[in-house]
Amino acid sequence: MAPPHTGHPLVTHEEHRPPPTETPPADPVVFAEVRWRRAPMRRFRLKSRIGGRTMDIAMLGVGHLGEAVLAGLLDSGLPISQIWATALPEQRAAALADRYGVEVSTDNRSAVTEADLVLLSVPPVAVAPLLKAIGPDLEPDATVVSLAAGVPLSTLASSVPKGVHVARAMTNIAARARQAATALCAPEGTDLTELEDLFDRVGVTVTVDESLMDLVTAVAGSGPAFLFSLADALTTAAVDGGMEPEAARVLVDQMLLGACLHLQSSDEAPAAILERIATPGGTTRAALDVLRAGHASGTVKAAVQAATARGHALSGDDRPEPDTPAGPDHHERSAVSPDSPGSAGSAGSAGSESSGGSAGAKGSAGSLGAADSGGSEPGDIDSDHF
Ligand SMILES: NC(=O)c1ccc[n+]([C@@H]2O[C@H](COP(=O)([O-])OP(=O)(O)OC[C@H]3O[C@@H](n4cnc5c(N)ncnc54)[C@H](OP(=O)(O)O)[C@@H]3O)[C@@H](O)[C@H]2O)c1
Repeated sequence: MAPPHTGHPLVTHEEHRPPPTETPPADPVVFAEVRWRRAPMRRFRLKSRIGGRTMDIAMLGVGHLGEAVLAGLLDSGLPISQIWATALPEQRAAALADRYGVEVSTDNRSAVTEADLVLLSVPPVAVAPLLKAIGPDLEPDATVVSLAAGVPLSTLASSVPKGVHVARAMTNIAARARQAATALCAPEGTDLTELEDLFDRVGVTVTVDESLMDLVTAVAGSGPAFLFSLADALTTAAVDGGMEPEAARVLVDQMLLGACLHLQSSDEAPAAILERIATPGGTTRAALDVLRAGHASGTVKAAVQAATARGHALSGDDRPEPDTPAGPDHHERSAVSPDSPGSAGSAGSAGSESSGGSAGAKGSAGSLGAADSGGSEPGDIDSDHF
């Protein structure tokens, strides 16, 4: 049995963040500064919502995603004394305790004793059995939040004692950098204010209807894998072209970060930005023509559909998985003129690449399930886990 938790109020960002007036230094790789950049925008809301309530949090099954959330929460200033975690096996629990200074054990039942909030980051198949096992130890008014793909609220609700609240949170590994995109859903009438505040600490949070959770899982939960896949392809292309791997990595990482920040700060739709920067006859246009001839956009859409279908399947919803060929979308059709340079020559090779991409999309959807059985050390970024 765990010793009683000491109650500490959730702290506000002001106590743990640098003053918002500081000018960020102009270093080339700026992940840390991005974090602070968001702080002034959200501080007031956080301060007014948290209201000093004491909240003890149990995080069960800290693997890849759980560790990202744990690291992000601690980095946001959440006191280590408010978090009680579990992980398997024992060596990993010990390693996490050393790394973060939090209480980490393999004993789920002890960890939830006196917890106001229980975050589950175990594989989807483990969620219901785990809830049944910890049920007797849950506080009567605790809130259980599942981070798992494809485990419906109805399963959560039927696996916990009456009175215990349930919710789902679909977040992503960018929680570690406090840049996650999180979607919450809960039974109608649930006050999600405190949960929003908690997940705001590790990024941006929205509330959605549960019917959209599988789609959100594909776009926001698995979404980082889309960008990592792009980063991998760009880095490989740069190295193949003669760049040093380290230099290629720095350039690609910074380019993606900068492009995302640009997107976030712009009122323009991505398609409009694309059209504006792809000057006819220029290098960007040449690259875009090849991407469009290869139906890159259609391939991404097929990947989202495959991941969504995988979420449906995990939740026991047996809608058939889409067999979406990566055909051109309306941008692609309108933008690639039949006589545009590169389109004729590249269509063949890029087209065959696109069918490979479609198959890859199904593979990546399958690997949402693989997240459940991944064999790599949690903490590494591993595309098998998306
Ligand atoms: N990875 C992502 O980017 C991502 C994104 C969105 C959602 N998710 C969801 O997040 C959840 C975790 O994904 P993940 O990638 O972090 O997987 P993961 O690395 O395998 O983490 C799950 C951890 O839970 C442990 N575990 C399993 N059963 C347990 C139990 N009964 N008690 C305590 N610990 C237990 C596992 O230990 P063993 O390995 O020893 O079994 C593993 O360390 C999944 O439900 C997934 O759908 C993940």
